[in-house]
Amino acid sequence: MSKVSKKVTSATYVQKVQSIFQCPICKESMYVSDLKSLVCSNHHSFDFTKQGYINLYTQQVKTKYNKALFEARRKVIVEGEFFTPLTEAITKIIQKHTVAQENLNLIDTGCGEGSHLVTVGEALRSHKSVTGVGIDLAKEGILVAAKHYPNYIWCVADLANTPFKDNHFDVILNILSPSNYAEFGRLLTKEGFVVKVVPQQKYLQELRGEFLAESAQQEYSNRDVVDRFQEEFQLVDRSRITYTKNLDQAMLEALVTMTPLTWRSTEKEKKAFLQKESAEITVDVDILIGRNN
Ligand SMILES: C[S@@+](CC[C@H](N)C(=O)[O-])C[C@H]1O[C@@H](n2cnc3c(N)ncnc32)[C@H](O)[C@@H]1O
Ligand SMILES: [Zn+2]
Repeated sequence: MSKVSKKVTSATYVQKVQSIFQCPICKESMYVSDLKSLVCSNHHSFDFTKQGYINLYTQQVKTKYNKALFEARRKVIVEGEFFTPLTEAITKIIQKHTVAQENLNLIDTGCGEGSHLVTVGEALRSHKSVTGVGIDLAKEGILVAAKHYPNYIWCVADLANTPFKDNHFDVILNILSPSNYAEFGRLLTKEGFVVKVVPQQKYLQELRGEFLAESAQQEYSNRDVVDRFQEEFQLVDRSRITYTKNLDQAMLEALVTMTPLTWRSTEKEKKAFLQKESAEITVDVDILIGRNN
């Protein structure tokens, strides 16, 4: 597919669901203009890029989440299938809570390079019609997502000020990312729910042991995060997913690059860790399901 047609394909797709958008500046309704941009009634205009995503974030932002990190995340998620048991569990939970629904509006807030949204979205599409939206503040993540996954809407946007109208999303994914519960509550439909994934004690414990040995972070507890979630939402489901995966050296290298856990480590420390030919790495997370109170 040529780059021009990617832009037009994406604009055509967004046009069909343009009524869910609201201007991030003035909150007015938006529409797709000339299959080129998303415009509000006050003429705030946001162009579709040649890759097909839309940048709806109004400030310049440079985060530590860069291209190398998202490409490494993609390698670990797609090639390494590192999170497959997690996305399977998420899909089952969503299916269980939306059996009667034929149409689903699904948004991933802090979607990174987009693979989790697409894995869950495609599995759900065998049962229902799904409009899938991924937003992230890091343009580098959205770029990777738009490059690999058509049939989804990719936006650079702040999860604390999303460019969407009230009560239009049935499911909000929020996987290993920051949250804004007031905004999530605003976006949810009456029966809608948030799926929040938070690390549990043993999450990437092999990295924590190696890279955070002296730090308090080694003794990770998610209790405060879970308590905060329960203050804002009615907790209707909670499950813990724990497993290990054997990663080879190339995959371990990608793992070290993909996680903020190694941001404070030296190259020497990383090299020492990567001496191993392979290692068992633990995923240990809680999946929290919350509805508006
Ligand atoms: C650890 S990554 C997780 C990414 C993805 N959910 C995954 O599991 O692969 C956290 C993500 O949150 C994004 N993020 C942080 N603050 C954000 C904000 N205010 N709005 C949108 N995304 C944000 C980062 O850019 C990053 O992609
Ligand atoms: Zn506007």
